[in-house]
Amino acid sequence: MIPTSAKISQAGVCLVLDFSHGTPQVLHWGSELVDPADQLVLAAIEPTAHAELDAHHFHGVWRENSRGNTSRPALLGHRSGQDFSQKFELVSVDVSKTRVVAVSRDERAQLEVSISYEFVGSGVLEIQQGVKNLGSTSFEIQALEVFLSLPDRASESMDFTGRWVKERQPQRREIQSGLWVREVREGRSSHDYTILQLAMTKSADYQSGDVWSLGVGFSGNSRHTIEQSQSGRKTISAGELLLPGEIILGQGQEHQAPNVYAIYSDVGIDGISDRSYSWLRARKNHPSSPRPLTLNVWEAVYFNHNLEKLSELADVAKEIGVERFVLDDGWFGSRRSDNSGLGDWFVSKDVWPEGLSPLIKKVKSNGMQFGLWFEGEMVNPDSDLYRSHPDWILKSADRVPLEGRRQLVIDLTNPAAYDYILSSVDKILSEYEIDYIKWDHNRFLLEPASQGVPAVHNQTLAIYKLFAELKRRHPGLEIESCASGGGRIDLGMAQVVDRFWTSDCNDALERQYIQRYTQIAIPPEMLGSHIGPTQSHTTGRVHSLSFRAITALFGHAGLEWDVTQTNAEERALLRRFSDYYKKHRSLIHSGRMIRSEIDASTFVHGVVSHDQTNAVFAYVTLAGAMGSRPNAIVIPGLDPKKGYTVSAVFPAGEPTYIQRTQVAWLAGAKLSGEALASVGLRPPVLNPENAMLIEIKES
Ligand code: GLA
Repeated sequence: MIPTSAKISQAGVCLVLDFSHGTPQVLHWGSELVDPADQLVLAAIEPTAHAELDAHHFHGVWRENSRGNTSRPALLGHRSGQDFSQKFELVSVDVSKTRVVAVSRDERAQLEVSISYEFVGSGVLEIQQGVKNLGSTSFEIQALEVFLSLPDRASESMDFTGRWVKERQPQRREIQSGLWVREVREGRSSHDYTILQLAMTKSADYQSGDVWSLGVGFSGNSRHTIEQSQSGRKTISAGELLLPGEIILGQGQEHQAPNVYAIYSDVGIDGISDRSYSWLRARKNHPSSPRPLTLNVWEAVYFNHNLEKLSELADVAKEIGVERFVLDDGWFGSRRSDNSGLGDWFVSKDVWPEGLSPLIKKVKSNGMQFGLWFEGEMVNPDSDLYRSHPDWILKSADRVPLEGRRQLVIDLTNPAAYDYILSSVDKILSEYEIDYIKWDHNRFLLEPASQGVPAVHNQTLAIYKLFAELKRRHPGLEIESCASGGGRIDLGMAQVVDRFWTSDCNDALERQYIQRYTQIAIPPEMLGSHIGPTQSHTTGRVHSLSFRAITALFGHAGLEWDVTQTNAEERALLRRFSDYYKKHRSLIHSGRMIRSEIDASTFVHGVVSHDQTNAVFAYVTLAGAMGSRPNAIVIPGLDPKKGYTVSAVFPAGEPTYIQRTQVAWLAGAKLSGEALASVGLRPPVLNPENAMLIEIKES
């Protein structure tokens, strides 16, 4: 028996489906509703206008042309041109408290489709779609994407764009007639990846307004859209972007599309982060140990590996209080520059004549964990691996793809290549005491085919499998996903790794933006944020240690700097910062992220404990303020009724001021949560590109 409707809810989010018209129809995705579904159907039935069809139009989730839909269907596909148009009739519906699964069939097209909606924690809705070929000839799937209707009041969209060293820059626009599409065809999620596509009510901000968001749980190609059709109705969609011929189902075969995650908030954008963080934090594999202060040696030594220098770095790191030491690129094969050696995963005798043991011993005896860099999906043509297996790369026909960073991509869907990479990495991890690996993916894919057939989908599944296998063989191993910085940060990779390298840009000013927007979906403990050199290697800007440190604090903090070159004062400040990070990381890595918008030249963000008893906020001057005396620091997110002691703290030195007298509250003031969120605190006049920290404790 097929029910006429279903309603599931979790943590204040509710999904109502109608099944009374032969196809599943989402009537509502938003705040909890008490109304029975049949009444919502009554309220939702639209008229048909002149020049439209003669019957009512229902917004079925498969969006078939046969049901009157003239926009893109959820399933696009065909059998050599036949069966491109389907009409799916419901055959079964299973409903439990938090999950609905609806199976439909088109007997004529010999296809079965299924859709499941499940609340997987904190009101996050996981949507899975599948297709089964019931026919005897093959069926090519060109697209299988998730669409959700948006209420008319969703009037603006926001998503994130970027490039190397400038990931996740926001773009916000009014939703207008037509299709807004964000496509990725890089074969990895990319620097330009939005992570979540947002739709929201007019003027929604961090604390108020309704926000609906969708994101694909996958690290390959993707497509996110927002559409307003001729009828005026709006939809949001997300899914994997499939290449021609990538998924062809033989008789009886099934395809499961990557999961899509739908997150709704009625308390603005911070509400989206709140749900996303709680959901990701509840993963069984979410790191439970304190996130170790990390030193990555990349910007300190690049390819110039040398035991003496690295031991010196390890000693200074110990003095500072570093807890994890990561040896980056350059330790293997002929890898003395990025021109050669990728693929030859054995320790280079030239730079490490006694292997890595002397360095690892040093690092361990200094009380730190040891981490090592890999880029297992890649090969330099100038490598022993490529010389012996030139056929192990992804390529279309006989054409070798254009090189990027002098490298090509290994075909991990080829079992021999997969086994080679798995066993070479496994061998290193078995031989040495390695707690952590940084896994890079420095180039995007071109003509990504295996045996002539597009292979991004299977290549992506292969890397997930490889990570899972490495973790199975080496319990406790942590993995960081990197792709020239933040080129592979997505909700799929978030299920299998422990950390992301947020960006190759360690310039604190750029990082303020990159971290703010990456953190809309990903919690700070999963985002590497390092104090870079005084003069940034990627922008040339010079920033104070205090600004760099306060920026690094709101993430999984670390350093990426030749700290052997620091002076006594800098080391003392780094030591203080390290103590501060260790004392406050449990709050920063578990609380609610709150952002406050004061004006265009300022960022205010912080983390409030769930019981609202304490918080730490950053006040950041991105540029000079327009007013000679800047706008008040307004701090939402606290309990309006509670009283708090507020003070400024300077764990990595004072910012620089440009003023004649100082403000009065820095040493401490007592204010209610209500006053902090409305009256706020008058800031000192900081120079541009500066920051200060504000501690807030219940008094
Ligand atoms: C990429 C990473 C860097 C570093 C280099 C090494 O660019 O993003 O952090 O690991 O590769 O080659």
